[in-house]
Amino acid sequence: QVFKLEDYRPSDFLIPQTKLSFHLGPDRTTVVSELSIERNAETGDGEPLVLDGDALALVDLEIDGETLGPNAYEVTPEKLTIHALPKGKTFRLKITTEISPSTNTALMGLYRSNSVYCTQCEAEGFRRITYFLDRPDILSVYTVRIEADRAEAPLLLSNGNPSEAGELDGGRHYAVWEDPFPKPSYLFALVAGDLGVLKDRFTTMSGREVELGIYVEHGKEQRAAYAMDALKRSMAWDEEVFGREYDLDVFNIVAVSDFNMGAMENKGLNVFNDKYVLADEDTATDADFANIEAIIAHEYFHNWTGNRITCRDWFQLCLKEGLTVYRDHEFSADQRSRAVKRIAEVRTLKAHQFPEDQGPLAHPVRPRRYREINNFYTATVYEKGSEIVRMIRTILGREKFREGMDLYFERHDGDAATIEDFLKVFEDVAEKDLSQFALWYHQAGTPNITVKASHDAQRGELVLDIEQSSPPTPGESRKRLMHIPLAFGLVGPSGEDLVWEAADGAAIENSIVHVRRRKHTIHFTGISERPRLSLNRGFSAPVTLSVEEKPEDRAFLARHDSDLFSRWQALNTLMTEAIIEASKMIRGGKEPSFPDDLLTLCGDIAADGSLEEAYRALALTFPGEADVAREIGSNIDPDAILAARDALVEAVGRANAASFEKLYENLSDGGPFSPDARSAGRRSLRNAMLDYLSESSGDPRRAAAQFERATNMTDRSAALATLAIRHPDTLEATSALARFEERYRSDPLVLDKWFQIQAGAPGRHSLDTVRSLSEHRAFSLANPNRVRSLVGTFSSANQTGFHRPDGEGYRFFTDMVLAVERRNPQVAARLATALRSWRSLEPGRRALAREALLRISSAENLSPDLRDIVERTLA
Ligand code: ARG
Ligand code: ZN
Repeated sequence: QVFKLEDYRPSDFLIPQTKLSFHLGPDRTTVVSELSIERNAETGDGEPLVLDGDALALVDLEIDGETLGPNAYEVTPEKLTIHALPKGKTFRLKITTEISPSTNTALMGLYRSNSVYCTQCEAEGFRRITYFLDRPDILSVYTVRIEADRAEAPLLLSNGNPSEAGELDGGRHYAVWEDPFPKPSYLFALVAGDLGVLKDRFTTMSGREVELGIYVEHGKEQRAAYAMDALKRSMAWDEEVFGREYDLDVFNIVAVSDFNMGAMENKGLNVFNDKYVLADEDTATDADFANIEAIIAHEYFHNWTGNRITCRDWFQLCLKEGLTVYRDHEFSADQRSRAVKRIAEVRTLKAHQFPEDQGPLAHPVRPRRYREINNFYTATVYEKGSEIVRMIRTILGREKFREGMDLYFERHDGDAATIEDFLKVFEDVAEKDLSQFALWYHQAGTPNITVKASHDAQRGELVLDIEQSSPPTPGESRKRLMHIPLAFGLVGPSGEDLVWEAADGAAIENSIVHVRRRKHTIHFTGISERPRLSLNRGFSAPVTLSVEEKPEDRAFLARHDSDLFSRWQALNTLMTEAIIEASKMIRGGKEPSFPDDLLTLCGDIAADGSLEEAYRALALTFPGEADVAREIGSNIDPDAILAARDALVEAVGRANAASFEKLYENLSDGGPFSPDARSAGRRSLRNAMLDYLSESSGDPRRAAAQFERATNMTDRSAALATLAIRHPDTLEATSALARFEERYRSDPLVLDKWFQIQAGAPGRHSLDTVRSLSEHRAFSLANPNRVRSLVGTFSSANQTGFHRPDGEGYRFFTDMVLAVERRNPQVAARLATALRSWRSLEPGRRALAREALLRISSAENLSPDLRDIVERTLA
């Protein structure tokens, strides 16, 4: 079935009140749902009443206190259709269903993880609990009663505020929760089990006291301290920056170990993958701490952008996700280093969103069609969606943007809104027409901007020819012209930004060219010396750039551009080009070589004390193999790319050995561990040095020594990764891997890292290693984190292993995807997207990858989730 945006119709029935009562049991849970149903005055009669279900068993059905006879309704596990409805405007419906949490392996609806009952309802999991109008524009006020064995589940949580609790016979007990805010069913949550808790308080700006709780496995309470701190900082930040205050008496977070995604923003009761809650120096890396901070903030920020204002239908998913990602990015930028954060965001966007937008799974940020909504929780909806909000801020300026956001909250609080509603508030406050800009939501694909410059020294004139184009994407062969805000600078001979006298040919405001036509020719006057072009500063628009530029000019910008993002971009482009050239040499049977200038430039940036350490570390992180492949675009040979990349790492390490060694020594700090951005930056630069020195010396001892002495997980796992990747099969590597496993065997989140490091390590035996890890006793298809650590990492980070020329990597992968899909279709569908760029491979691998996709698509009883991905990928 294909769902279409234009088919949206308001529901004929509304559900102002929902009363749920759960009798929990692992194998049998009874759910009694009492709904007040109201005919929608704004639509027609619309009988019968059709409620959504999924794998449900109906036990009993009553209307206004009377049990319905079998002729009054039809029921299947997927649908409840009621024909005989009372004539009045409102009536009461009472539905009893039975479900089995312990056999729910799809992890949607109500399931059990580590003996804890928990729920995941977004997008359409609520219908696996009870029959309902399971769509986001049905807002209802919920009262929830939970009853369970006290021994099994001393803790009973749901949305909103606690209202009542008590003991019952037979060792049972109950609790009642009331959520005063009308909400869609996807925000419903229930948690019951035996968990430890870390408690705290927050006083909001108007003086409301909020009780905060983070629930985790007993004994791990202290590992929630950083998450709690991040939560309080998020609450304060949203008040300060967006004027948004929290609205309930309690805010609870529960960490569970089996979770399909990162986390979920259920009203007042966020449920998290424990990977994004638990952290301490012995078990979590700096990257884990940063992710926790960002995701805690993200889910908290959803309280306003998602919950108070929700989405009219699932086509509007980016309304809450793009905006909330934008908000969490801004939060992290304020808490840490803005430049470093921006570079990290752009790296993620290019690594995940660009290939999606440039391949068979491309879709608009606001799609018009879907078969399976779970497959649209994508980098495009989230990350590109966030870039669109950022461009609105760029176009309007900070103040007007804030005014628009204020109007959005004021105008739409309590609504299930649309992208049109969102754009309208900015049009209203800024008195601007955003209709061309709106194409960013509606048109898929990454636009390209071509820039040509010519300078006339005599006349002091610079002419820029700017041209936009958008490549065709599936279902959209012709593209309309976009409004692209392109920030730029003209960089003078000593690195300063040149000021022009006049410019005409396009609207330029605050050093931003508003590209709106296919071509703009811009004449700048008063430019006597030839400037270097610093384009798309801060990555003001998510586009690709084609600029003819000399490597010397790039190197100049890498050293001198006043925009730190553009400096990083210039160096990154130089590195990418060098790897591409070297990979051509390798494919042509030649020894790769690199320009000396580049090697020196890397050394100079590493040693430049005026730059933050985190920045230098990012600058020296080479583009990944997949990034290079994306830039090459077609006829990809992953082996040549890896060989070229390794050769460049070695050359840079060799050319700068002395200074890198010194830096490595100087950066070691013996002080107490702190996860703050500055300390994390030092560690990341030091570990970058370790990697270079290990590759260029071929000597595993430095990494082995660091592994021995490390006092935190960042340094320990970095050393382990360097050993596994740079020195495979050495005694040092094997012994470190064995000791790491031994030490952390009973800590699942750390053991995931052990799986991940090995799954990502290239090399001749890579697939054998990964295969035998899939038979390791700690491997389990039931745990999404474990599956992603092994299979996800292998298929996304181990390009040479996955894309083995004999197709064995694909065979292993396909077996795993099909095995996972029998339990958990959503996780399998997500894994399968690893094949989305198959068409850009060289012919041999391309044929094998296609075979693998065909093998999946011809499997029996394929889930709609996996079928949708595979068929679109092959189309
Ligand atoms: N709304 C959640 C978040 O972004 C993610 C839910 C993902 N759901 C899904 N079916 N994939 O915070
Ligand atoms: Zn979200």
